Amino acid sequence: MNVALPKGRLGRKVYQMFADAGFECPELLEESRKLIFENEEKGIRYFWVKPSDVASYVERGAADVGVVGKDILLESKPDVYELLDLKCGKCRMMVAAPKDWQDDTGHTLRVATKFPEIARKFYGGKSRDIDIIKLNGSIEIAPILGLSDVIVDIVETGNTLRANNLEIQETIVDISARFISNKSAFKFKTREIEAVLEGLASEVSEK
Ligand code: PRP
Ligand code: MG
Repeated sequence: MNVALPKGRLGRKVYQMFADAGFECPELLEESRKLIFENEEKGIRYFWVKPSDVASYVERGAADVGVVGKDILLESKPDVYELLDLKCGKCRMMVAAPKDWQDDTGHTLRVATKFPEIARKFYGGKSRDIDIIKLNGSIEIAPILGLSDVIVDIVETGNTLRANNLEIQETIVDISARFISNKSAFKFKTREIEAVLEGLASEVSEK
């Protein structure tokens, strides 16, 4: 079974859950530039990919299963099964603005974000006209430099907002890591995938 894991801190945490559930592959934690790791005995192969690419690997079947943030599922709506909330990597999708900012509802709101679909849906639900400025990072700078009125972005500790004199306006949705599966893999490797799913579910419930 091919497992796509998100590179980085969350990925290492998530791998630990797989390992504790009995699907270890110790080589994966060694410092190296290697991206693919296999434990033949367990029939499992892990690979590290950019967090935002996990869903593409799983949707197209290059990975049978993977772990991805709910933010990415909401944004790109991949055609996959969302099997389990891993209850880690918790954060929130929020609207934030400069501390002294006041919403003048009369004009089109300029929203800077990495998540245009989430922003569109949120403001669509309020029938608010917005102009989306799609950025790829450092979103917090946009309202400071007058590029946007507000931002829609992920907030975890709130440190980035505080350091940039921004404050929360509204919460859009709670985010956490999800275990996902390719649809046909779930049909043809049901037993293997369910074994991992059950292992992970018991790790989640022990937390
Ligand atoms: C993420 C997110 C926020 C920050 C939230 O950015 O976009 O900027 O982390 O975390 P905090 O509330 O704990 O400060 P990231 O570090 O991934 O950088 P990027 O936005 O430039 O991609
Ligand atoms: Mg950021």
